[in-house]
Amino acid sequence: MNPQDGITIRNELAGDTEVIAVIVAAAFGSEAESRLVSLLRARGEATISLVAQHHGSIVGHVMASPIRIDPTLAGSYLGVAPLSVQPEYQSQSIGSQLMEAVIAAARTRSVDALFLLGNPSYYSRFGFTASHLQNEYGATDSFMHLELQPDSLCDANGTARYVAAFSDANT
Ligand SMILES: CC(C)(COP(=O)(O)OP(=O)(O)OC[C@H]1O[C@@H](n2cnc3c(N)ncnc32)[C@H](O)[C@@H]1OP(=O)(O)O)[C@@H](O)C(=O)NCCC(=O)NCCS
Repeated sequence: MNPQDGITIRNELAGDTEVIAVIVAAAFGSEAESRLVSLLRARGEATISLVAQHHGSIVGHVMASPIRIDPTLAGSYLGVAPLSVQPEYQSQSIGSQLMEAVIAAARTRSVDALFLLGNPSYYSRFGFTASHLQNEYGATDSFMHLELQPDSLCDANGTARYVAAFSDANT
């Protein structure tokens, strides 16, 4: 099987929520990330939610939600999280296709920059670099950004903050 041949990326639909929850929990091996996905959706903060389908079955998911920069920096910023691929389908480029698609979707929405927390060896391939902004998690190299509008963050300083669902999903 070569899943890359049969993969379609599309926006989440209303009927997808249960299967997304199952895939996110299977990918992470815990419920916290699927709680986060549900909370972001319920609060209207799932700015972008995409699924990867393989011959009609959902096998991956990615979400992006608002980021606020303190002190206030005008512009539109999103955090990409979580990114999930069903375990049997991992390492077959589905995560990469979801990342390329969420970046493209953010571009069409005129988002200025994307942020994420993750392994630099994976996310650098999509153009993410270690962010000079602070984050709420004390992360260093793993807190990364991608400017979609050139130099949108070059004069920025302060802290990039995720919406409250990120802490609420863990309580
Ligand atoms: C991370 C994840 C989304 C990647 O999706 P994928 O479809 O397996 O990734 P791709 O096939 O596009 O890329 C595979 C590459 O990513 C690497 N990779 C996968 N997960 C990685 C991780 N957590 N850290 C670093 N590298 C990782 C693989 O080693 C492989 O490297 P190679 O291209 O040099 O061989 C998927 O493995 C997953 O769902 N993991 C569990 C959940 C998770 O950790 N999500 C990310 C944090 S939000």
